[in-house]
Amino acid sequence: MNEKEHWTDADRSGYYAWFGRAREWVGGNSYRKFLLNIENENLATLSDTEKMALETLGIRQPYTPPPLPKPEGPGRTWTTEEVLALAEKSLNRGRNFEHGKRTFAAARCVVCHRFGEDGGATGPDLTQAAGRFQLKDLVEAMVEPSKVVSDQYKASIVQTVDGKVVSGRIVAEFPDRIVVVTDPEDATKFVEVAREEIEELLPATQSLMPAGLLDTLSEEEVLDLLAYTLSRDKSNDRRFRK
Ligand code: HEC
Repeated sequence: MNEKEHWTDADRSGYYAWFGRAREWVGGNSYRKFLLNIENENLATLSDTEKMALETLGIRQPYTPPPLPKPEGPGRTWTTEEVLALAEKSLNRGRNFEHGKRTFAAARCVVCHRFGEDGGATGPDLTQAAGRFQLKDLVEAMVEPSKVVSDQYKASIVQTVDGKVVSGRIVAEFPDRIVVVTDPEDATKFVEVAREEIEELLPATQSLMPAGLLDTLSEEEVLDLLAYTLSRDKSNDRRFRK
């Protein structure tokens, strides 16, 4: 299988920009210099994938989460329907911003997702989630992460000619090798696979985001987490009014 064709099909936006720029670099400056340049250009113009690649390649300091608080619980197995029913009743008022923020850390969201000024880069920045999601899709993304996975964040499974399997996210492609981040919580854990060693490159069916993350949380924690995620980091959002 030709992995180039495969990626051309699978990809729409994010990877394209990254690969495109990586290609431009080929034969020119050193890769490191290329990365420094785009960082200086304007960090804000980079996609989440590009920012993560800067961490992978050691150009940017990766996010290290502080010690995380424990969920309060008691937990239960949450379904999308149950969370939606709860939200319909109690999401629009009386929520607690600080408690939502605490839960965002207790449920490990902050390890992979940036929100406001804080958080990791292995998942999408969620600060503007309110503008990008209907409530139903947001809840679904939290409860059933593998149902819809954006192309930019699809994991891959690489099989090598000598029978090794590497799975994770491809963050950079070069003429002679690819770079795969293997730990969904840590952008600095990566493996380089030489192209001539690749037997097959397949898209993973599962999200890199674990399922069941809400299952350690109580009703109040789930509600405040939802309100927080929808707040665009504004503690005066209407959902926090009494
Ligand atoms: C191990 C890393 C990891 C953890 C922990 C994690 N996520 Fe994710 N999350 C991801 C990745 C990677 C994606 C993108 C792939 C996908 O859509 O499944 C994602 C996608 C999402 C999306 C969809 C965003 C979009 O733009 O498509 C939402 C919403 C989300 N996560 C919320 C949460 C919440 C809330 C928590 C905590 C309860 C959480 N995540 C914990 C890695 C993580």
